[in-house]
Amino acid sequence: MKVLIVGGGGREHAIATSIVKSSKVDKIYCAPGNAGIGLIAECVPIGAMEFDKIVAFAKEKEIDLTIVGMDDPLVGGLVDRLEDAGLKAFGPRKNAAILEGSKAFSKDLMKKYGIPTAAYENFDNAEDALNYLKTASFPIVLKADGLALGKGVLICNTLEEAQDGVKSIMLDKQFGTAGNRMVIEEFMTGREVSVLTFVDGNTYRVMTSAQDHKRAGDGDTGLNTGGMGTFSPSPFYTEEVDEFCKKYIYQATVDAMAAEGRPFVGVIFFGLMLTEDGPKVLEYNARFGDPEAQVVLPRMKNDIIDVMEAC
Ligand code: AMP
Ligand code: GLY
Repeated sequence: MKVLIVGGGGREHAIATSIVKSSKVDKIYCAPGNAGIGLIAECVPIGAMEFDKIVAFAKEKEIDLTIVGMDDPLVGGLVDRLEDAGLKAFGPRKNAAILEGSKAFSKDLMKKYGIPTAAYENFDNAEDALNYLKTASFPIVLKADGLALGKGVLICNTLEEAQDGVKSIMLDKQFGTAGNRMVIEEFMTGREVSVLTFVDGNTYRVMTSAQDHKRAGDGDTGLNTGGMGTFSPSPFYTEEVDEFCKKYIYQATVDAMAAEGRPFVGVIFFGLMLTEDGPKVLEYNARFGDPEAQVVLPRMKNDIIDVMEAC
């Protein structure tokens, strides 16, 4: 079997490292890949957003499965393009990748289906957001609606900081068009855990838990990032937490997406906060985490291709 991986980070290296172990696979390509991936797979100089070239390459090489690792091409609809061309792909279609692509969408979904998450309001203009802040309590959390490399979240301790945050997200467009809408959310405290799940549209299987170091600086200081490092399992993800999440979060999310006519196939990454009132969803990602994939996938015992094909 021939596999193409789309992306070029540590996550795609981790995916490639897992796939090398599969007895079913005899050739792995990665677009665009990186130097580390180049040691175990053939890197091809095609960017992750060059959909025409990716589809043409997959056809020409008769690729049996394309795995889309990154958020941008998933949210942009690469899986739709591949499937429409008669090619097999692993990852959500565009109408399901919105679970990560729009925080306003995911918050509304959680509210509609009673999935535990922080209280919030969505805004599509700065004036309403600034007015709302006048009666808010602090700290408060501002989130650009769209993709921002994990950096579109600002935790603001004072009204002034929050006002500056709204301006930089919605008016100065610090995160580009990701800031056309925004979510303002209740600040939660607790331990954070990342849980990756394989999803086939109806059911899910949980991978082992992980935790990433989010802040840019030493001593857990500075701005949020997509993750500066990671470890697995999380000692805070107890059996009790696992049971709660299975009952109220994982299946509920898969069911909600199916009920909305957006069946999710691929990996749902649950970013959880273990609060005093129980686990709550911080965010969803529509893919393996990076860096989380780097500590979770090496510990997976079964053949990843079997699981992806089953999905
Ligand atoms: P997100 O991209 O939504 O996961 O947010 C990035 C990071 O910001 C999270 O991993 C948390 O560390 C922090 N964060 C996001 N939402 C909240 C919240 N409601 N309360 C406290 N911290 C948050
Ligand atoms: N490490 C968080 C993410 O992949 O978004």
